[in-house]
This record gives sequence, C-alpha cells and structure tokens, in this order.
Amino acid sequence: MSADRKKQLAAAAAVEYIREDTIIGIGTGSTVNLLIDEMAARKLRIQGAVSSSEASTARLKRHHFEVLELNDAGELDLYIDGADESDRQLRLIKGGGAALTREKIVAAASRRFVCIADDSKLVDVLGKFPLPIEVIPMARSYVARELVKLGGYPIWRENVVTDNGNQIIDVRELRITDPVGLESKLNQIAGVVTVGLFAQRPADVLILGTESGVQTLS
Ligand code: A5P
Repeated sequence: MSADRKKQLAAAAAVEYIREDTIIGIGTGSTVNLLIDEMAARKLRIQGAVSSSEASTARLKRHHFEVLELNDAGELDLYIDGADESDRQLRLIKGGGAALTREKIVAAASRRFVCIADDSKLVDVLGKFPLPIEVIPMARSYVARELVKLGGYPIWRENVVTDNGNQIIDVRELRITDPVGLESKLNQIAGVVTVGLFAQRPADVLILGTESGVQTLS
C-alpha cells in the first residue's frame, strides 16, 4: 500500500473526531490536505476552521469552509495535524513544511490534538528526521553556531521563507532522548522563534494509516 493511501486512511479516520458546528484547528501538509478534501467530500458542516498556514487557508477556502482568526475563536476543542515523526509517547517532530510556528500556537490553544500520519512516521527515538527550527533571519548564523555546540549539524533551508517572514534551519545528527528537555534548551537560544519539537505539548491521539488499516495510539 502506498504512503498516500495510508495517509488517506488516517485522514478519513480523523474526520470522525470532528463535531459538527464547532470551530476546529487545521494543520498543514499532505495528510492534512487529504483531511480537508475528505471533510469537503462528506459535506461536513463546521462553524469554521483556524488554519496553521496560508496553504491550508487557501485549500479550506477553495472548499468554502470559513477560516477564522485564532484571536476571534478562543480555545479550540480539536486540532488535527500531520507530523514528520512521532515516538510512542506521541512527542513529535514537525516543520517539514515550514509551518511549525503557527502549528505550535494552534496546538497549544486546543484541548485535544489529533495527529494523522502514515505508519512510516512512528519511530522509537526522535531525530532521524532533521529537526526544523524557525529563526529570525539576522540570528541564523548565531543560532547555527549554538546548535553545533549542542552536537547538531545545522543546515539552512535556503530559499524558504516562513509565513511569518523567518528562516528555517534543519538540524541533523540529533538523537533526541530527552525531547522535553531539548525543546526547552533550544527555546532559550536568542533568535529561535520555534523549535519543531512538540514534546511539551505532544499529540493526544495518533492515528496511523497502516497496511492493515488504521492504528490509533493515545
Ligand atoms: C508542516 O510544517 C509540518 O509540520 C507538517 O505537519 C508535516 O510535514 C506533515 O507531513 P505530511 O506532509 O506527511 O502530512
């Protein structure tokens, strides 16, 4: 079974978590795109969506879903998003699509975070996927030097500007055995906007598409 088909299975299963006439948070990426399409195909009636990226906003609007500002929506019941990696405690690496900052904000503002992915994203230890970090442009080289001191191998994702006008550094060679501690430590570096580790606020539910159907971890 292809990874896309597995993503489709996870996205379809996540629709069951959405209550009609509520405002939901919507993440970013190929799995979320399938979720949005599935919501439209089922003609789901929601009050609106708070989006984590310009790309998801455009897709939601194309399907005639109302997109609301987080400042107007208050606390959200539910946030659904993909991930680049998850461990079994549902701590995540995110930011492969450069949308990590708004994703982290919407996840923080939501009571429940449902993560959807194909089963290749589940790992024992986080860090095989390079850890994305959003940085203020003028701080890029400084942050990179600090990351080297921590044993990482930082690479500037050239030609990428985030929705917030910032830049992305991808950190390779990290074996993340203490995700919560590392998230705190990296957050302390001046110029870091957001670390793509979602460990202090992990997912609450992980829906994986697998060869044999959907597997749910919580
Ligand atoms: C966006 O910055 C990322 O955090 C995405 O949530 C992640 O890359 C999603 O991956 P898929 O495209 O495989 O859904």
